Amino acid sequence: MSRICYIFFVIVLVVNCKSPEEEKSTPNIVDGTQKYEVYQGSEMSTLMQGMYAYNMQIKNEIEAGVQPTEFPDVFLNIHTAQLSDTKTRNETFEFYSTEFIKAERLVFVEDATKAISQRYNDAIMMCVACHKSECTGPIPKIKKLLIQ
Ligand code: HEC
Repeated sequence: MSRICYIFFVIVLVVNCKSPEEEKSTPNIVDGTQKYEVYQGSEMSTLMQGMYAYNMQIKNEIEAGVQPTEFPDVFLNIHTAQLSDTKTRNETFEFYSTEFIKAERLVFVEDATKAISQRYNDAIMMCVACHKSECTGPIPKIKKLLIQ
């Protein structure tokens, strides 16, 4: 009896931070046993993807009525993570990273005067604010994090 092997190819398209014209898709190919890193993102893009995933989780928690309590210290790496070659850490970047961290911290404070969903959306709007000046590509994706 012959045995049929199925090989699954999963292509994950990662949208790199480039202006829309030069935005390129970078495939990661997974065949079930090995993962081929076709594209090596910067430390910052890895951190950003992590922040995206974490905030999506927080959004789900808030919508389920759960108050998130622990600010992830790894977010502080925004001050030091290495950017891709085309980006520079300028004053605007420093300003927005500080403001973003302030806003994100407030999400984890228990007794604030603002509703949790509002404080959470304020933090996401700081992601958007920085992206407006630093890299517009991921903005539509980031806006999906907002609680309606
Ligand atoms: C201080 C500015 C700033 C803030 C705040 C910021 N970003 Fe970014 N983000 C960037 C820059 C710059 C890049 C490009 C990084 C690179 O190319 O090295 C980026 C890249 C990204 C990417 C693309 C990563 C990739 O290459 O696949 C996503 C997604 C993203 N950010 C989501 C977020 C989310 C979600 C937040 C808030 C939780 C956020 N960003 C906050 C500046 C910022």
